[in-house]
Amino acid sequence: CRLFLDTADTSEWDDLLPRGMFHGVTTNPTLLARANEPCTVANLHSLAEKALSLTNEFMCQTWGATADEMYRNGMQISEMDRDKIVIKVPVTAEGTKAATMLSKSGVRICLTACYNSKQALIAGSMGVEYIAPYLGRMNDNGKDGFKECVRMQNIVDGLGSDTRILVASLRDADTLGDLAVEGLDTYTFSPQVARGLFDEPLTDDAAEEFEAAAAMSSAMARAVE
Ligand code: E4P
Repeated sequence: CRLFLDTADTSEWDDLLPRGMFHGVTTNPTLLARANEPCTVANLHSLAEKALSLTNEFMCQTWGATADEMYRNGMQISEMDRDKIVIKVPVTAEGTKAATMLSKSGVRICLTACYNSKQALIAGSMGVEYIAPYLGRMNDNGKDGFKECVRMQNIVDGLGSDTRILVASLRDADTLGDLAVEGLDTYTFSPQVARGLFDEPLTDDAAEEFEAAAAMSSAMARAVE
């Protein structure tokens, strides 16, 4: 299982990453803009340094109007650490060409902005490491995002491919459990969804009960002394 925190807000990294359940961090130009982080190679290197001090992988997106531009930016971002930086590339015609060029240069790849299970065939046949379907945004566009993600997992399994289906654009924590039952094991989600994973009042009640019992038994022990 691999969980990623989907934000460029480093105050959220400080709060959530020490909990230890995240394999890495994911960002894209939209998330960088939302966090007032410049989308530049220099800034991505500084974010990568911080993310990799707290997790195992930093996944960030290249940009450019042509495959050559996407390739150039992707190479520059990943040169800092080819083992731990994964470059996201939109699964467009130009993006896929850039991803192939990057892959041949030893760069780890995540095809992203996936809205259709048939795109899993592209990822599986290229042998890229990840493909990221946007579950919530598929639902926003009248598709059944859950079903498309399950179909993608079936496709890569059927191909005998090692490509991981990195489910993105998740809007609630319960959907992770439902997808995990269907065999999906790789997710990226917002801090809000991450907090939702801890939202279980019965667990909080049980923890409080343990604390009360511990306090009572240590008070009794002190009284006996
Ligand atoms: C992934 O790269 C995107 O940042 C994200 O999953 C999109 O989520 P949203 O549709 O909730 O904005």
